[in-house]
Amino acid sequence: MKRRSFLKNILSRLLKISAAIILVYPIISYLFYRKTRIRRVTFRLSECPGEISFKKEVYLIKKGNDLYALSAHCSHLGCIINFDQKTEKFHCPCHGSIFDIHGNRLAGPARRPLSRIPIEFDKDGNVLVKVRRTA
Ligand code: FES
Repeated sequence: MKRRSFLKNILSRLLKISAAIILVYPIISYLFYRKTRIRRVTFRLSECPGEISFKKEVYLIKKGNDLYALSAHCSHLGCIINFDQKTEKFHCPCHGSIFDIHGNRLAGPARRPLSRIPIEFDKDGNVLVKVRRTA
């Protein structure tokens, strides 16, 4: 009897420890191992003939005197959006969200506008976009 209760006790403790590790590990890894990566995207002047340029998941938009960059990731669940030249709107192929050329949400399940990304210029006048991604 003593041997059986001893084994039951050990097995019970091992199960509790395993359950605790399974529950706590994702929280610990989320808190301590998040990394922010910065990816630089350069739009050379010769590569941007029109109003809209797309490169490495970034849209660069030249509209009148405005120049700005929008993330190509949908604000709903992150799918890459497409730009429709005719309507001048961004369409998400995943769940149908629609955004105007400024990134404002017009329709669909997305609740937020597209993310604007700050831009800088290098000495040659090329546009530098720094995209922050948290992994
Ligand atoms: S990911 Fe774009 S609408 Fe869902």
